[in-house]
Amino acid sequence: MVKLGVNLDHVATIRQQRYTPYPDMLTAIKISEESGADSITMHLREDRRHIQFEDIKIARKNINTKLNLEMAPTNEMCRIANQVKPDFICLVPEKRQELTTEGGLDIKKNFNSLKSVVSKLQESKALISLFIEPDLSSIKLAKDLKVDAIELHTGKYAEAGVSNKEVYLNQIKTASEYANKLSLVVNAGHGLDYTNVKEIARINYMEELNIGHSIIAESIFLGLAEAIKKMKNLIESS
Ligand code: PXP
Repeated sequence: MVKLGVNLDHVATIRQQRYTPYPDMLTAIKISEESGADSITMHLREDRRHIQFEDIKIARKNINTKLNLEMAPTNEMCRIANQVKPDFICLVPEKRQELTTEGGLDIKKNFNSLKSVVSKLQESKALISLFIEPDLSSIKLAKDLKVDAIELHTGKYAEAGVSNKEVYLNQIKTASEYANKLSLVVNAGHGLDYTNVKEIARINYMEELNIGHSIIAESIFLGLAEAIKKMKNLIESS
C-alpha cells in the first residue's frame, strides 16, 4: 500500500501570518497520525516563513509514526538535522523568493557539495532522500551519492494541462521503474491534490506520497481529520 506523508508546513503558515499561538502544531500532528498519516513532513526553511525550530522539536518528541525533515543542503541545516535526528531527511533546493519549492535538485551541478552534505548527515542516522525531477540521469547521480531514496517532483505533472499530462505521468512511471532497478526507495510529491493523486498512487514501486497544501486547504471545509482520511481513501482505492 502506498503511504501518505502529511506535510504540515501550512498549519505553521497560518500561525506565522499573525504570530498567534494557534493553530497548535501538536494538535495537528496528533490528528494527522490518528487520521492515517504514515509520516509527518516539515520543511524548516532558511527564512523560517512557516515551520520554526520549535515545531521540529515538538514533532520529534511527540511523533509516533515517522518524522520527515525537508531541508536545504546547508551547513546550518546539517547541524540541526544531526541534533534532531529525524527518521527521514529529504534534501530540497531552496530559493528565498520562491512561493514553494520550484523544482528538483540539480545534482549534476552540485554533486560535490551534495556528497559532502550526505556524508555530514550520516551522524543523524536518518534515511536520506533527494528531491529530484523524474529524469534518469538525476536518478543515476542520486545512486552515485549513495542515498537511500528519491522523491520524484510531481509539480510539472500536477500543473500540466490535459494535452501533456500523460507525458509527465509517463516520465514519473519510467523514473520509478529505473530507481527501483537501482534499489532506491521511490517517493513522490508536490502539487498533488484530490483530483490528480490516484494516477501517481498507481505507479509501480511508489512507496510514499508527500502531500501538504491541498490537504490543509481541504481541511478548511472538512476539518483536518476528514481531509486526511479523504486523501488516504483515494490513495488506498487507486
Ligand atoms: N515534497 C517536497 C519535497 C516539497 O518541497 C513539498 C512542498 O513543501 C511537498 C512535497 C508538498 O507539496 P504540496 O504542499 O504541494 O503538497
